[in-house]
Amino acid sequence: MARALPPPVLEEIARLRGLYAQPRSALLPALHAAQEEIGYLTEDAMRDVGDALELPLSEVMSIATFYEMFHLERPGRHHIRICTNISCHLNGCEALLERLCSRLGIRPGETTADGRVTLEPVQCLAACEEAPVLLVDAERHARVTPVMVDELLARLT
Ligand code: FES
Repeated sequence: MARALPPPVLEEIARLRGLYAQPRSALLPALHAAQEEIGYLTEDAMRDVGDALELPLSEVMSIATFYEMFHLERPGRHHIRICTNISCHLNGCEALLERLCSRLGIRPGETTADGRVTLEPVQCLAACEEAPVLLVDAERHARVTPVMVDELLARLT
């Protein structure tokens, strides 16, 4: 049967499995490895992970769907993660989120129709003293204002 994950990823999952007494303990890092390879978790990729760890697909899917960090649909070319935790909430993240939704024409958690941007509210980004904070791909932006949101979006192709 054809595999969704390439041999190097399956080898990495086998290596991860060897690190733990229980194969189940390797599930989170294995899912990360799979997602890193293909960008999101397809059912076939989750089946590969389950086969490699000798876990049923239902168990793999229950974990993949529980954690926000795993994506079950193809994400956009750019990923905006905006913190909505307490410090950012007290410093205006709701207005920023509304502006992002308005400018992008999507709701939180969605991807633009052209596949350009995925917008994801997240918990604390560990920069509370610089709230409100968001990430554009791997780049952190602090003390973000609505004008900055417009500038950041204009840079994304
Ligand atoms: S509450 Fe937003 S970075 Fe900590």
